[in-house]
Amino acid sequence: MVQSRMTITTMLLLTVALAISSPRAEAKSNMQKQAFGKTPDGQPVDLYTLTNKNGMEATITNYGGTVVSLKVPDHQGKFDDVVLGYDKVTDYAEGKSYFGAIIGRYGNRIAHGKFSIGSSTYTLAKNNGENTLHGGNIGFNRRVWSAKEVSGPAGPALELTYLSKDMEEGFPGNLSIKVVYTLTEQNSLKIDYSATTDKETVVNLTNHSYFNLAGQGNGDILQHHLLLHATKFTPVDAGLIPTGELRPVKGTPFDFSTPMAIGARIDQDEEQIKLGMGYDHNFVLTRGIKNGTLALAAVVHEPKTGRVLEVWTTEPGVQFYTGNFLDGTGTGKAGKPYGRRTAFCLETQHFPDSPNHPSFPSTLLKPGAQYHTTTVYKFSAEK
Ligand code: GLA
Repeated sequence: MVQSRMTITTMLLLTVALAISSPRAEAKSNMQKQAFGKTPDGQPVDLYTLTNKNGMEATITNYGGTVVSLKVPDHQGKFDDVVLGYDKVTDYAEGKSYFGAIIGRYGNRIAHGKFSIGSSTYTLAKNNGENTLHGGNIGFNRRVWSAKEVSGPAGPALELTYLSKDMEEGFPGNLSIKVVYTLTEQNSLKIDYSATTDKETVVNLTNHSYFNLAGQGNGDILQHHLLLHATKFTPVDAGLIPTGELRPVKGTPFDFSTPMAIGARIDQDEEQIKLGMGYDHNFVLTRGIKNGTLALAAVVHEPKTGRVLEVWTTEPGVQFYTGNFLDGTGTGKAGKPYGRRTAFCLETQHFPDSPNHPSFPSTLLKPGAQYHTTTVYKFSAEK
């Protein structure tokens, strides 16, 4: 009796000792699901937490396919949430910034809310001055997606699907979309977008995460350093519509071909900087037009935390946006206000307004063809 009691005590002690000594690195990757409240029209939505074996964590809601948080380590192993967002789904529904969301059917702007395919002209809602922005009044960022766990050897993964009906927001064709988020064991958030249609349509999908590598709500991003693999960008008019020109970045504030502080030239007296109120421009990626292969588009480094973000994509362009429209109104996660330029976006994409620019890489999707693009946001830290 005494002996068996001792054995139980010893076993208990051993279990506790093992639990305490297990390093975090041996944790298993996993996915958990919890309720995330209801949309303004009463639909329940969920929040999925993906954790990899290094302890990196991504939370994603099926409302808008939105990345709600991304917790990544700094150079001392301290985790911070590096994306802007909200605590409540109703704030996402009312927000105007597209924090973390999947953007579609057409990312960025279409001039005058109009485009043609063959002899048919299509008219869209003008939700951004004279133009259409990010899919119209109710873009993919405000839709409830179906969610399914598809975790595999690469890491925990969430598959989101949505059927955008023929003429939804004015776009032709039933578009069936699948987006898979994988949190890899190499600390990357990999996003695979696919779509098929039953009528000719235009498609340009992206993710609209706002990053602050010092942690969300921790000041502006002007001291972050950016390297962009782009020798050209697409200058815009006053409505932020590309003029059609592909302008060399050399000798302009748009040259990030060697790492440069984001804030170094952001207020220069230069026509394009003034039109964008900072950076809000599409960059033509160097290997861009040879589509299809995953290539490094950008590297961002935050000097205090040592965090590094690499952006890899199969897309020909990236919208570099410095949160010029953030104005500190409204409350973000954990009560943090988000002032002007407290985050940057690197929205991988086909060029804005491509349907009205035959010289840009085409965004046309035909029945029988498969739309497929991949973007990877890879995190690391250096001293
Ligand atoms: C994109 C646009 C910006 C702005 C943001 C959302 O980055 O290019 O002009 O509309 O989305 O606020």
